[in-house]
Amino acid sequence: MIVTGAERREQITAEISERTGITEAMIERLVHAFYDKVRSDAVLAPVFDTRIADWEPHLAQMCAFWSSVALMTGRYHGTPMVKHLPLPVDAAHFDRWLDLFEATAREICPPEAAAHFVERARRIAASLELGIANGQGVLLGIGERFRRNQAGAGQ
Ligand code: HEM
Repeated sequence: MIVTGAERREQITAEISERTGITEAMIERLVHAFYDKVRSDAVLAPVFDTRIADWEPHLAQMCAFWSSVALMTGRYHGTPMVKHLPLPVDAAHFDRWLDLFEATAREICPPEAAAHFVERARRIAASLELGIANGQGVLLGIGERFRRNQAGAGQ
């Protein structure tokens, strides 16, 4: 029997979904609940407020992103690194982002699913922080964090 790439991908998605309990509906709930928190957070909201006028398309993109990352569906076709490079963020923003994400994942998802999301979020956050530091001419060592000086840490 010939198995196409699309069929193989569907098998992988089904296998992850069965193992973790993650579904597209769970991703929708997680993404919406998470950005509800972000939008009223003192550290993160200012970064988003000036850049996202219409939240619906952003939330749809984020659902596609998490579907690709968590369920390997290939629904997302974007360039997150490019979008984050110009943002005025550092370790403090990433720590806050991860705190809120982990809290939301634990509220919305069963433990296996929450662990699956959180592990991926941590890795992607670390790689975005590394990229942002690099863009500012700072080469982070392993385990090192990116901290801007106070003057550069505004919105
Ligand atoms: C320091 C914490 C973070 C802040 C302040 C932040 C902020 C933003 C903002 C303002 C945008 C919109 C950019 C634009 O459309 O011009 C964006 C997009 C996005 N962010 Fe973040 N972000 C953070 C961390 C993360 C992390 C950890 C992930 C993934 C685990 C992530 C995934 C994405 C994705 C996938 C997009 C959409 C890119 C697209 O439109 O294709 N972000 N983020």
